[in-house]
Amino acid sequence: MTFQPERAFGGRRVLVTGGAGFVGGRLVRNLVDQGAQVTVLDDLFTGQAEVIPTSAQFVRGSVTDEGLVRELVADASIVFHLAARNIIASTKNPRDDFETNIGGTLNVLRARLAAGPGGLCGIGERVWQPALNPDQRGRSGHDALAVRRQQDGWRALLPGVL
Ligand SMILES: NC(=O)c1ccc[n+]([C@@H]2O[C@H](COP(=O)([O-])OP(=O)(O)OC[C@H]3O[C@@H](n4cnc5c(N)ncnc54)[C@H](O)[C@@H]3O)[C@@H](O)[C@H]2O)c1
Repeated sequence: MTFQPERAFGGRRVLVTGGAGFVGGRLVRNLVDQGAQVTVLDDLFTGQAEVIPTSAQFVRGSVTDEGLVRELVADASIVFHLAARNIIASTKNPRDDFETNIGGTLNVLRARLAAGPGGLCGIGERVWQPALNPDQRGRSGHDALAVRRQQDGWRALLPGVL
């Protein structure tokens, strides 16, 4: 079966952390255009609420809030995790950076696992690059943005979504 990224998410309930950011905002628009029911979790640290389409649900909050993350992840069949403190903030406040980039990512992964098998989890390239098929690179030149958790490991799901 041929994979059709432009039709992969129609009707699906999708959570995008960091969905008000540079990458997340584009992804959210793409998902909404496909007919996905999108929820954005973002604390607007660098993101802007204006980039979130009105048809998406916006929850202003942090990925460091374990209970909130668990609740939102359980309600979604697909999670894209793009919330991150950027490099400029990181150098100014490394503890804050650590709590979001490491602690927040751990919260998302644990919540996804708790929600049961078969879920999907998309994360920025550096985290997942080793697990991705090097042949499946995005049009932008970045590695595939999303991965599918399968019995035998992680598979690239959405090459070239941007
Ligand atoms: N920009 C790129 O070219 C690029 C390329 C590949 C991978 N990535 C990765 O994609 C991710 C997003 O990058 P970006 O360029 O969109 O950055 P960005 O700063 O524009 O977006 C990050 C978003 O996360 C939100 N955020 C920060 N801390 C949060 C928290 N604790 N809880 C909830 N939301 C929070 C911010 O408000 C913002 O909307 C990063 O992991 C980055 O490494 C970026």
